[in-house]
Amino acid sequence: MNPILTVRGVHTAYDTVDVLTGVDLDVLPGQISCILGVNGAGKSTLIRSILRLTPPRIGTITFNGNNLHKLKTHEVVRLGIGCIPEGRRIFGRMTVEENLRVGAYTERSNAKIRSSLERVFHIFPRLKEREKQVAGTLSGGEQAMVSIGRGLMTDPDMLIIDEPSLGLSPLFVQENFNVIREIAKAGVTVLLVEQNVNQTLAIADYGYVLLQGQVIVKGSADYLRSNPEVQRAYFGGLN
Ligand SMILES: Nc1ncnc2c1ncn2[C@@H]1O[C@H](COP(=O)(O)OP(=O)(O)O)[C@@H](O)[C@H]1O
Ligand SMILES: [Mg+2]
Repeated sequence: MNPILTVRGVHTAYDTVDVLTGVDLDVLPGQISCILGVNGAGKSTLIRSILRLTPPRIGTITFNGNNLHKLKTHEVVRLGIGCIPEGRRIFGRMTVEENLRVGAYTERSNAKIRSSLERVFHIFPRLKEREKQVAGTLSGGEQAMVSIGRGLMTDPDMLIIDEPSLGLSPLFVQENFNVIREIAKAGVTVLLVEQNVNQTLAIADYGYVLLQGQVIVKGSADYLRSNPEVQRAYFGGLN
């Protein structure tokens, strides 16, 4: 199986500060791949590199066979990469439908927006039932569906989700993971960034552990669950 996303030898810096120093990564289509690592490891910088919000200084990133070099972020999105950035939340006073429409703000064609909405409602029938309900009154699990459904409004082949469980209550966190599993079942490739190791490895197929801007260990979720390097990355790897 050919990867849908390949990252090769990527170095990314902010001004003079080198953050990523030679990252390689492959995401296989249809899988849930995860990027694990402590705060400051460079996870969001890797996502920013893929989306070309902070373009790499060196290295190559390809998606569906297209070299992303020279593309603008909206062109990367148009190729089929959706993203739910860190800390993205729903708009509590807007309806479910209005929240979802925000995700399609770059799309002008009403017919396309309608078909994207129908696709999201097909994956999450509960949202169809609550279409006109104000989002702030939904249950935690339903709010997770809205947040992820919004990321699906550009009809991406691959969805990048950066720390969806950050700052959420434990019940809400589990709902989020359930929802991510649902979208993978619907055929969307997922690249999931998380600090929540055990819950992430429970739904992921494959993972990479980042530490200080480098991949220190990678492998199947089963392999990573029992790998002492993963523990090292989280507890005491910074020495
Ligand atoms: N805009 C920025 N300017 C300068 N340094 C940054 C910026 N964003 C992040 N960094 C630094 O890059 C490193 C990696 O950050 P980040 O990619 O956000 O890590 P993670 O997502 O794994 O927590 C950190 O040391 C952080 O301080
Ligand atoms: Mg981050």
